[in-house]
Amino acid sequence: MTSEPTPWRATVLTLFPDMFPGPLGVSLAGKALAGGLWALEARDIRASATDRHRSVDDTPAGGGPGMVLRADVLAAAIDEAAIASDRPHLLMSPRGRPLTQSQVVDLAAGPGPLIVCGRFEGIDQRVIEARGLEEVSIGDYVLSGGEIAAMALIDACVRLLPGVMGKQASGTEESFSEGLLEYPQYTRPQEFEGRQIPEILISGDHAKVAAWRLAQSEALTQSRRPDLWARKAAQRGTKSTTDG
Ligand code: ADE
Repeated sequence: MTSEPTPWRATVLTLFPDMFPGPLGVSLAGKALAGGLWALEARDIRASATDRHRSVDDTPAGGGPGMVLRADVLAAAIDEAAIASDRPHLLMSPRGRPLTQSQVVDLAAGPGPLIVCGRFEGIDQRVIEARGLEEVSIGDYVLSGGEIAAMALIDACVRLLPGVMGKQASGTEESFSEGLLEYPQYTRPQEFEGRQIPEILISGDHAKVAAWRLAQSEALTQSRRPDLWARKAAQRGTKSTTDG
């Protein structure tokens, strides 16, 4: 008997397991999920509550608004999930380190993470430390919980798994991993509301097309993402033109 290799797996701990697979169940990720290219397990944190009311949160020590997820309940939920120690243990949180494409590439290459979704005002710090949770943010804005952030992270990983996207992925990947934003794209019709497709793109001159695209990517990156542009410039060992 031949055993199938274990597919990449995301184990999500949440108070709202019904939110999953949600958008991950349709389109590219959904087809790959149905096809067994990856696996998703959404576990209810509340199932690990032990008191009569199944409470998972309590008021913050020291006072203040909102509620804090209890360390004992979340630790039990993590332990009951029996996650192999080589799988990354993540906590979605606006105070985490910002997620990057290179981290996504690393996560996609591994066995797949355990992802804890925060809610309320936060999570008891002791469980973050005791279970070695790495806090990850998807941007400098506050969502009402970690679930949508977890979905974004999972989606970014799943599209990189072998067989999920085929060769479509490569173009955008290269562009982003080289630290530049994508150049603008066009397709038929040739004219739309008086706007033409740039002449060069229909010239058939591949070298000129490539040079035009690179120039567009650079100009976009410079104006919209001076942070990326500065990093790129530093890599090249030149001084950024956006520096004051
Ligand atoms: N939970 C709430 N806001 C978040 C964010 N920006 N990133 C990750 N998790 C979050």
